[in-house]
Amino acid sequence: MAGLQGVEILNGGAAIRLAWLDGQAARFHAVWLRDNAPDPKTRAPGNGQRLITVLDISPDTRIAAATVTDAGDLAVRFAPEGLECLFSAGWLAARVYDAPQPREPGWTDPDIARWGVELAPGLPTARFDAARADRKVLAGWLDGIRRYGVAMMTGVPAESGALVGVVDLFGYVRETNYGRWFDVRAEVNPVNLAYTGLGLQAHTDNPYRDPVPTLQLLHCLENTVAGGESIVVDGFHAAGILQREDPGGFDLLAGNCARFEYAGSADVRLTARRPMIELAPDGEMIAIRFNNRSAAAFTDIPYDAMGAYYAAYRRLAEIVERPALRVRFKLAPGELFIVDNTRVLHSREAFSGSGQRWLQGCYADKDGLLSTLAVIGSGAREAAE
Ligand code: FE2
Repeated sequence: MAGLQGVEILNGGAAIRLAWLDGQAARFHAVWLRDNAPDPKTRAPGNGQRLITVLDISPDTRIAAATVTDAGDLAVRFAPEGLECLFSAGWLAARVYDAPQPREPGWTDPDIARWGVELAPGLPTARFDAARADRKVLAGWLDGIRRYGVAMMTGVPAESGALVGVVDLFGYVRETNYGRWFDVRAEVNPVNLAYTGLGLQAHTDNPYRDPVPTLQLLHCLENTVAGGESIVVDGFHAAGILQREDPGGFDLLAGNCARFEYAGSADVRLTARRPMIELAPDGEMIAIRFNNRSAAAFTDIPYDAMGAYYAAYRRLAEIVERPALRVRFKLAPGELFIVDNTRVLHSREAFSGSGQRWLQGCYADKDGLLSTLAVIGSGAREAAE
């Protein structure tokens, strides 16, 4: 990491301009630097949490003095407090915000890879025993889920509840009204159409929940029926195609709230009001909600826009059906797949015949997964240093 070459105080101390030895340059505000000061009265040395609030920072904060140290870091004195502290050149370089950020609505992080049918042979896959024994194998599998929103695991014991052991590798089960985990097989009086032999349109699970479960796992214990293949579709890729082919339709699905509900058994009445394509305030695509079975009557779209809204909804549904977007596989006993439920749609083809199809599903959340991945990654970096 390059050290600093020079520092210049700007606007009477309201900001500084830094230059690094590698040619990079960036401005930082005095208030930003003061808020992020690394001294022990600002940051708790043990857990790194901030000890001050924004109200503890004088609105008149400015930089009274700034120099580059012999080690190439930044020494700063803040006025009117008189606080002096050191910022590492590398820490600052990793947090530059003084850069053009040209972003189109619907952008996603460069680490998110959109995919279609071509992913089929390269679906991230790990064996359960290997992921349990080797943190590197586990990290590779978790990174695949982060990047593609889907992964397979093989060699999971074909025993009831074994899928919880997979969640234990990275996080925590999200228990819901369906239980800690649930059986997916044909039932006589199903509380959910998933528990039938019907084919299911590709969907994200539980859009009637807010927040939705951000991960879903489906584990196969038995599968001797004709049909019943599983299909996964990258919702970000589908939404991106909609945006390219029908920008106005994309804006309608992103700019209006749909409604979702589930009241399949007497003790449950779940509702949510959220868009089918969810964008952050800066246009980042952050979630897809798409589920014909649990879409409620839409009441938040203006009368004059409803016809076009339905046309956009239909167009997205048609895109999701395109073979070029669909990765299809038939689960065998001991196999499990996991999807990022904020992004990847899953579906099942109809099944019938004399055999049995018994899957178990459960929910978990991405926060635990990404935390485990980051912890393994930082451990690997420390080991390499
Ligand atoms: Fe589902």
